[in-house]
This record gives sequence, structure tokens and C-alpha cells, in this order.
Amino acid sequence: MTNPHSDKPGVAIVTGASSGIGKVYADRLAARGYDLVLVARREERLRAIAADLRQRYAVNAEVMVADLSRPAGAAAVADRLSSDASVSLLVNNAGFSALKPLTDTPDDVIVDMVGLNVTALTMLSKAALVAFKTRNAGTIVNVGSGAGFAPYPGIPVYGSTKAYVYLFTQSLQGEVGGTSVRVQLVLPGAVISEGWDVAGGADLAPLPENIMMTTEDCVDAALAGLDQGERVTCPSLHDDTILREFEALSGRALQSMFDGKPAARYNVGG
Ligand SMILES: NC(=O)c1ccc[n+]([C@@H]2O[C@H](COP(=O)([O-])OP(=O)(O)OC[C@H]3O[C@@H](n4cnc5c(N)ncnc54)[C@H](OP(=O)(O)O)[C@@H]3O)[C@@H](O)[C@H]2O)c1
Repeated sequence: MTNPHSDKPGVAIVTGASSGIGKVYADRLAARGYDLVLVARREERLRAIAADLRQRYAVNAEVMVADLSRPAGAAAVADRLSSDASVSLLVNNAGFSALKPLTDTPDDVIVDMVGLNVTALTMLSKAALVAFKTRNAGTIVNVGSGAGFAPYPGIPVYGSTKAYVYLFTQSLQGEVGGTSVRVQLVLPGAVISEGWDVAGGADLAPLPENIMMTTEDCVDAALAGLDQGERVTCPSLHDDTILREFEALSGRALQSMFDGKPAARYNVGG
């Protein structure tokens, strides 16, 4: 997690730093001495957060206004990852949801959600991976969701984008094997943030308080998991044997598919 040419940890790029989980990541990373590039669309908020971090932690905090659901926005951040050797950490956190069945989800919302949650995260991961592997140093943190584990009513597109983040990030972990580059997958459960309003949660009954985690607890647990060397961090999953069993079973399902003969229950062939 450190820049090999300096005692300082380097620059962290945090996407979705204008609110919620990303804003807390920015705070905690500044506290650890990282200089920051804060990415989101709401410039005024980013500027206020950057000024606050500079003042409280004596780090550099820069604002990068980009709409990551658009190719040009993602390309601008990818360029920074490719061209700035002081970048040592990428937190791919920006994402949004819509609490709607597919038939009620407007086409432009689907395009934006896949563009942000899937395409931008993929392009930024690629740019970081190329740069970090060249330097044999650096960390990528991808924020998925427990919603990617299994279908959940009302979030068909969101849950599926997070299922993508789950598989994609674990594939990246395969690509950094034997190097010093780290890739962490963070899977929050339900976290109190503006994301619920963005998703349209105000139209629904509030979720029970006891299932909701604060953004602070979520990020502190995620960073503790990173420090402990976890590949996959689920801040609210108390029994982590569930995760290991899930991984083992899905791996077994994949391996079991490699058979040229139709299964006997289909009564195909002789
Ligand atoms: N809250 C939860 O319960 C929960 C659970 C599991 C996973 N997560 C994941 O955690 C991540 C952060 O969510 P959050 O709960 O902290 O929500 P949030 O408070 O709404 O934060 C989302 C962030 O993403 C940015 N963003 C949204 N659209 C963007 C775009 N097109 N281009 C650039 N930035 C964009 C927003 O900034 P601007 O609007 O200023 O662009 C904001 O900074 C997401 O990936 C989410 O899926 C959240």
C-alpha cells in the first residue's frame, strides 16, 4: 500500500467521494497520510470536503469532477491512473441503485447504472492494474454489495451489477498473483447513506434500524480487513464461514460443468 519511492503512502483516488461511504474513505485515508483525488459529479461538495481534509490532516486533496457513467468521465480518471506514478490506491466506490422492477426502470437509468457500476469500475480497475503491475505496488479496492450474492426483489439491475463486481474483482485477484499488487473486494450490507434516497427508498417503508450500518463502521471495518490482508471483506457478515462455503460451492458448480455428456435427467442420447 506504500509508494516504494517515498515514506508517504502516495495518492489515493476515491470515486464517489462526495457523500456516503466514499466520503468516509476519503477521511480515513487522509488520516493515514494519503494525498487524495476526490472524484464525483457534485463539484461544490467535493471542494468543501477537500478543503476540510487539507485543513484537518495537512494532506493534498484535489477535486476531479467527472460523470463516471459516461465514457469521457471514466477515461479522464483512467488517464490520471495511467500517467501519475504517485497514485498507489484506487477506491472504486461510486455506484447507485434504483429500487424498481425492471419493467419500471427507465432505459437511461439502466444505461447509467451499468455505465457506472460496471463499465467505469472495469475501466478504472484496468488502468490501475496496468500501472500498479508495472511498479509492482499499489492497491485496488472495489466496492460491491451483499446484493450481488443472490437475487433480491426490486433491484434487478443493481444486484446484477454488483454480482459482476463480485466475479470481476475476484478475477483481478487472479491476475495479481505473484505480485505485490493488492486487490480487495468490499461487500457492504445495508449502510445508512444518501444512496437509499437516490435509489428511491423514500417511497418505501424505512428499513429496520438494527440492520443498517453507519458509513463510518463500514469503512473502518473495510480498512481493518485490508490491513488484515483479506481478499473479500464483508463488514456485516459475522459468520464468515458462510462466505467460504459460498465460494467453495460456486467453484464446485463451475468445475462440475466441464462434462461433454448431457446430464442423465435429460434422457438425451443413448
Ligand atoms: N448504502 C448501502 O446500503 C450500500 C450497500 C452496499 C453497497 N453500497 C455501495 O457503496 C457505494 C457507495 O454508495 P453510498 O451508499 O455511499 O451512496 P451515496 O452516498 O449515494 O454515494 C454515491 C457516490 O457516488 C457518486 N456518483 C454517483 N453517480 C456518479 C457518476 N455518474 N459519476 C461519478 N460519481 C457518481 C456520488 O456523487 P455525485 O452524485 O456527486 O456524483 C456519491 O459520491 C456504491 O457503490 C454502492 O453501490 C452501498
